[in-house]
Amino acid sequence: MINKNFIYILLAVIVAVGILLLDTTVPLGVADSILYIILVPIAFFTKNKKFIYISAIAGTLLTVTGIFLSPPGGEIWQVITNRSLTLFAIWVIAILCLLERGQSEKMKAIHADLEKNIQKRTVDLNKSNTELEKESAYVQLHKDVAIAANEKIELQDTLKVCLSKICAHANWPVGHVYLVPNQTSNWLEPAKIWFLENPSRFDTFRKISEATPFGPGMGLPGRVLVSKQPEWIIDVTKDTNFPRAKVAENIGVKAGFAFPLLIGKKVVGVMEFFSVEAEEPNRDLMKVMAEVGIQLGRAVERQWAEEDIQNSNERLRRLYQRLEMIREEERTRIAREVHDELAQILSTLKLELSLLDKKMTDDKSSLRTDTQMMLLLVNNTIQTVKRIAMDLRPPILDDLGLHEAIQWQGREFEKRTGINFISEVGFGNIELDIERSTAIFRIFQETLTNILRHAKAKNINVLMHQEDAMVTVKIKDDGIGITSDQISDNKSLGILGMRERARAWKGDVNIQGTHDQGTTVTINIQRN
Ligand SMILES: Nc1ncnc2c1ncn2[C@@H]1O[C@H](COP(=O)(O)OP(=O)(O)O)[C@@H](O)[C@H]1O
Ligand SMILES: [Mg+2]
Repeated sequence: MINKNFIYILLAVIVAVGILLLDTTVPLGVADSILYIILVPIAFFTKNKKFIYISAIAGTLLTVTGIFLSPPGGEIWQVITNRSLTLFAIWVIAILCLLERGQSEKMKAIHADLEKNIQKRTVDLNKSNTELEKESAYVQLHKDVAIAANEKIELQDTLKVCLSKICAHANWPVGHVYLVPNQTSNWLEPAKIWFLENPSRFDTFRKISEATPFGPGMGLPGRVLVSKQPEWIIDVTKDTNFPRAKVAENIGVKAGFAFPLLIGKKVVGVMEFFSVEAEEPNRDLMKVMAEVGIQLGRAVERQWAEEDIQNSNERLRRLYQRLEMIREEERTRIAREVHDELAQILSTLKLELSLLDKKMTDDKSSLRTDTQMMLLLVNNTIQTVKRIAMDLRPPILDDLGLHEAIQWQGREFEKRTGINFISEVGFGNIELDIERSTAIFRIFQETLTNILRHAKAKNINVLMHQEDAMVTVKIKDDGIGITSDQISDNKSLGILGMRERARAWKGDVNIQGTHDQGTTVTINIQRN
């Protein structure tokens, strides 16, 4: 492209030559030299101060030279005045042009400055925007992890959710968890909890990892176990302390980072992540992960606490069941001894006394009345002893089974309390072993005791039936009705005991009450 300045200069030269030619033909008296001022505006268009000076100087020289080259004419004072006015005009215009040029250059400089500032600001703004985006992505990740860690879901699921969130955030395809098996252990067991973007691609790595536990200092997880902070390996295949890389030729991963799950100062697990490319440590990510590790530590802590509670509940339950079993055995033993030994002795005593009584048929003294009184007493005692033995453990339960035992107990209850006992038969023979029968029988007895103590009932209805794997006994009274608060009250130890007994045999006790319409207790026990 032709330089614009060149065109203006060329134009100026042509104009200058043209005017000079004109000047040399027109006589001196004519004020044609004024035309030289045109050179200055032309130079002004070059936007270069230097050319304004040059044009003004050229104009000046040509004006002066013209005096000598023009044909003579006019008065000398006219000639001098004309030429002086020309020079004056040339320089006034030149000065004006120079001022204007200076001004616009200043403006240009200010403009350029402004432009530069704006550009710098834009760059800064973009930078802080990116920072902000990064920051808010971290905040979101933090939030996601906190939500997952506090949700009432299994620890496994919490960890899975977190793995996938972190992998998505860092854009890494592999995430895996190690957990210490218990509170005292200092070894990391590989959990089968993974995030794998492409499971078949990382199959070898997964298999090796799942077979490799880590102790303190061993491999990436072991390093985290010791340092208790995030660790980063730029390329695991070149790392001297990465045992898994030595097992297989190509494990498919390169960069790795891991961070601890912490409860206080104890590492209870490690999360590790891998990418397929070697990568420099990302300090921001590591910082955020350190905090995520504390959040997840809490989830582990909660899981442990829940396991503790469950274990101690289970122990208590077993203890209760064992105590009940021992109590039942004791009752059976005492019942047998009372019945067999004590009742036997009393029967012998009774026999002896009747013999003595017979021998004294003619005796008129008060001795005879005494023996008869003793006989009566012994008789009553025998009844009492038998009743005690019966109460302790009705032999009918062992001899004739649950159905008969319940019938018998119901009739006894009716005799003792005046509450009507109706039993609905039609359930066929109940086939149940002695332990399960005993459990149902004891729950039934506790139910009767409750009816007597609390229900103010007039009638009791008992229904028993057996369905495939389950035996059900339903006891319905027509009393005041139990409330749901009473059923679930922690102080209702009788009901709790009933439930625990049933539970020992994979069964349950269901209680329902309606105000002023009575209570129904349903006992379900698995037959085996
Ligand atoms: N058949 C019933 N009718 C009405 N209320 C009942 C009945 N059985 C139990 N309850 C209520 O349930 C409560 C808890 O019963 P339970 O656990 O056996 O404790 P306890 O008999 O020692 O009070 C009783 O205090 C009573 O208020
Ligand atoms: Mg009770």
